[in-house]
Amino acid sequence: WKISSAEVFSQGPVVPVLVIENVEDAIPIAEALLEGGISVLEVTLRTQSAIEIIQKIADNIPEAYIGAGTVTNREQLKLVTDAGAKFAISPGLTADLLAAGKEGTIPLIPGISNISDLMKANDAGYDHLKFFPAEAAGGTKTLKSIGGPFPNTVFCPTGGISLSNYKEYLALPNVRCVGGSWLAPNEAIENKDWKVLTDLANEAIRL
Ligand code: 3PG
Repeated sequence: WKISSAEVFSQGPVVPVLVIENVEDAIPIAEALLEGGISVLEVTLRTQSAIEIIQKIADNIPEAYIGAGTVTNREQLKLVTDAGAKFAISPGLTADLLAAGKEGTIPLIPGISNISDLMKANDAGYDHLKFFPAEAAGGTKTLKSIGGPFPNTVFCPTGGISLSNYKEYLALPNVRCVGGSWLAPNEAIENKDWKVLTDLANEAIRL
């Protein structure tokens, strides 16, 4: 099935940013988060097995909105599309990536942290963007300011967001969801303590 960026942004308030090393952990992690009420998952291309993991989740858990993160170029966009990713997220943008996203078959959510990149994204036809690195780039203060001149561009901020500050982001009119690795801590993954993930998901969606 095919979706739009708007649909990805509207599935729930939080998007887990997943760094998964072992293929055998993929299904338990996805299932634990789904059980906790989260259906959008971002598997980052930061591990050797990321593509295989995306494919595995796409093949086995059809109800998951499985996306690929850290997609930085045209080749990676094609790889993740072929693997079955339903959307792709980038920490930034290049002219070629923006073009590839428009030619491609899954929604691309480019990342920005300044106004010039926002304008480049808008010019290329993108109004659903990642704001990264959110906290380091000024956090809610910056997003609030951006909302003045660009009220129709909406964001999924990530980078430095956790249970302690995510509600402040979600309270902004130009924020649709927030992303973060706090929903799947390394330690819990190492210990295969999947219930931790379910509990964190539950807590996060209970705003
Ligand atoms: C991302 O790719 O969105 C970030 O690395 C997530 O940032 P966090 O680890 O601070 O949540």
